[in-house]
Amino acid sequence: MNTENKITAQSNPFLPEPARIVRTYPLTDDVHFFQVRIADMEKALSFRYEIGQFAMISVLGAGEAPFSISSTPSRPGLLEFCIRRAGAVTSKLFQLKENDFVGIRGPYGNGFPVEKMQGKDILIVMGGLGAAPLRSVLLYCLDNRDLFGRIILLHGAKRPAEMLFRDELLDIKKRDDLEGYLTVDGDDTGQWTENVGVVTTLFPKLENINPENTVGVVCGPPVMYKFVLQEFLKLDIPKDQILMTLERRMKCGVGKCGHCAIDYIYTCLEGPVFSYWDVTHMRELI
Ligand SMILES: Cc1cc2nc3c(=O)[nH]c(=O)nc-3n(C[C@H](O)[C@H](O)[C@H](O)COP(=O)(O)OP(=O)(O)OC[C@H]3O[C@@H](n4cnc5c(N)ncnc54)[C@H](O)[C@@H]3O)c2cc1C
Ligand code: FES
Repeated sequence: MNTENKITAQSNPFLPEPARIVRTYPLTDDVHFFQVRIADMEKALSFRYEIGQFAMISVLGAGEAPFSISSTPSRPGLLEFCIRRAGAVTSKLFQLKENDFVGIRGPYGNGFPVEKMQGKDILIVMGGLGAAPLRSVLLYCLDNRDLFGRIILLHGAKRPAEMLFRDELLDIKKRDDLEGYLTVDGDDTGQWTENVGVVTTLFPKLENINPENTVGVVCGPPVMYKFVLQEFLKLDIPKDQILMTLERRMKCGVGKCGHCAIDYIYTCLEGPVFSYWDVTHMRELI
């Protein structure tokens, strides 16, 4: 084999790494949590990723799909995902048990610009499955608490039973170095002690926001973006300091298949994290 072929064989971007499911349990009726470890311990510990990146998970006989990494790179060795049942791959994933194997390749995508966020107040707004990538941001900021100013979390769900990571977030909310607000559109339990109303009803609770020093981060269902972005703009947060993660249909994740192309960019390479500035110049992104 000549040198060129060797390099190609060793760096095949489509080759998944076997990974064992360490823990899996339901977060809600249709969303399950998966904690996985790459089987080769050396590779597991050297798997580097940025907050906001995604990985392709494959299941034998079903195929593969992209999923945001929900864990934080500040806790290496284990990768966590939060997965909603949608079609072939996710249905098969939901049948797997602890100790079963999946394939992992990645990490892919640009991730959040951590260096640009350092020293800033971080205002995280998440709804529904938006908690998948933004939990990574939240945990990373909390693990590196000295690198950031205020950390503010606004998290919304339709009902208490549908709030992803509800117990974990209720616990984190007790920290005195985080300003956390949780809300549900409606409380059908009669036992919800937090806010009731859509996520934007939490914005009036925010005090003394210094827009120039704030990075606003949002991810959630499509309808949420419009209203949360309006709130960010009302707070005068500069457009290049408003960041969001956006999903497109993706197949390869490495800029080869063209499935995720919008105009002249491949969103698997230049996304899934975009600034509001990017979005105003490419309306098709949302
Ligand atoms: C960067 C990125 C990160 C993602 N992160 C997560 C995550 O953390 N958790 C999670 O549950 N899902 C996530 N997804 C979505 C996930 O990849 C899709 O739901 C995937 O298609 C599921 O595969 P499947 O074979 O089970 O379903 P499929 O058979 O592929 O699809 C089932 C249904 O979902 C629709 N669909 C597929 N992909 C998308 C998409 N990107 N947007 C809207 N509709 C779609 C299909 O048209 C079909 O109707 C992410 C997608 C991207 C691109
Ligand atoms: S997913 Fe294949 S080019 Fe982006």
